[in-house]
Amino acid sequence: MIRIDSVTKRYPDGTVAVDRLSLEIPDRSITVLVGPSGCGKTTTLRMINRMVEPTEGTILLDGQDIQRRPVTELRRSMGYVIQNAGLFQHRTIVDNIATVPRMLGWGKQKSRARAAELMERVGLDTALAKRYPYQLSGGQQQRVGVARALAADPPVLLMDEPFSAVDPVVRKGLQDELLRLQDELGKTIVFVTHDIDEAVKLGSMVAVLREGGRLAQYAPPAELLSAPADGFVEDFLGADRGIRRLSFFSSAALELTTEPVITADANAGRIAASGTPHLLVTDADGRPLGWADRREASAGPVDTGRLLPHGRPFVPGTDSLRAALDCAVLSPTGWAVAVDGTGRVTGVVSQQTIAEAIRTAHTESRTDTSQQAEESGKSRDADENDRADKAEVAS
Ligand SMILES: Nc1ncnc2c1ncn2[C@@H]1O[C@H](COP(=O)(O)OP(=O)(O)OP(=O)(O)O)[C@@H](O)[C@H]1O
Ligand SMILES: [Mg+2]
Repeated sequence: MIRIDSVTKRYPDGTVAVDRLSLEIPDRSITVLVGPSGCGKTTTLRMINRMVEPTEGTILLDGQDIQRRPVTELRRSMGYVIQNAGLFQHRTIVDNIATVPRMLGWGKQKSRARAAELMERVGLDTALAKRYPYQLSGGQQQRVGVARALAADPPVLLMDEPFSAVDPVVRKGLQDELLRLQDELGKTIVFVTHDIDEAVKLGSMVAVLREGGRLAQYAPPAELLSAPADGFVEDFLGADRGIRRLSFFSSAALELTTEPVITADANAGRIAASGTPHLLVTDADGRPLGWADRREASAGPVDTGRLLPHGRPFVPGTDSLRAALDCAVLSPTGWAVAVDGTGRVTGVVSQQTIAEAIRTAHTESRTDTSQQAEESGKSRDADENDRADKAEVAS
């Protein structure tokens, strides 16, 4: 565990970049530092690998003061990734990735083999190995940066706005890739961003910093969204935090109905004339084709050429309540289509049923939170376990 204990950084010109910051950064999970420009995120990250020394306070790594560790040894245990990847422009991709293994005295062949293995890990075609950084896209360069930081298999990864320089689509890909990689590797990652959506998506714990390097709140993302500590955090989270919070609720408990689901070759005479105004029509395999008007369908055969689009379906249990609500809102009938993992329809659900599920989820999470508040007085450790559990449930 990395423990930042009452750390202050005052630069020689008097700027207080970080002000009495205390944070416990759990092992093998992603902790995000987020906040507006100049709030001390980079300074904090750099104090962890001693590129910047604190003015006051201590930082402990696995219980030991990092001041007492030789700086080279400390940095070898911490991969560092920055915006624009910071690659060596005159070295090929494979040699960029092999930099640290080479420094550690590994042979050329072993280092290159390791580099090739890492390229695959981070989703890079090994055919790019002999290229130079300028011959890669921004997203590819950023992947090289991650591979290079992982080369010597350090337990800790420090990442300073690694995905800020790429467009939103590539950025989403890199975020998903990082989550997948983290599932495999289980590193202790400290990730800096000024983008709250990125923080909420990636972090098990999120530290919101404010100007002057002061900690505004440190909590799992679901808790941040449901209970911002003050107006600053609330403003920083943005206007639609209620909707975003639904990402942390499962759609598993949504009550689906199959009554309005028919196959395209259904016998018109057997379709009830009353009920929901629309029927979801599927092909013989159970895949959704679109919505039909119930009265028309009960009077004669379904004309599949005239169906209303069924919209994007959701997978109950896999997708969140937010995804289910989004499907219903975008659906021309106001009903969301549920499918299984293979895309076959398992039922449909109305906006109203989703709204009821949201109310229930809110009530349950409020009960959880008040129980936690009651128990939190008992022991600090217990509270931390709780948070870790909650983060796990939320993610
Ligand atoms: N070497 C330095 N000397 C003096 N002041 C510095 C130095 N480095 C950073 N600062 C100041 O410390 C404060 C925090 O800087 P820092 O780079 O940690 O912020 P940040 O949160 O990473 O910002 P950004 O989101 O813009 O990257 C800023 O006011 C900055 O101007
Ligand atoms: Mg910075």
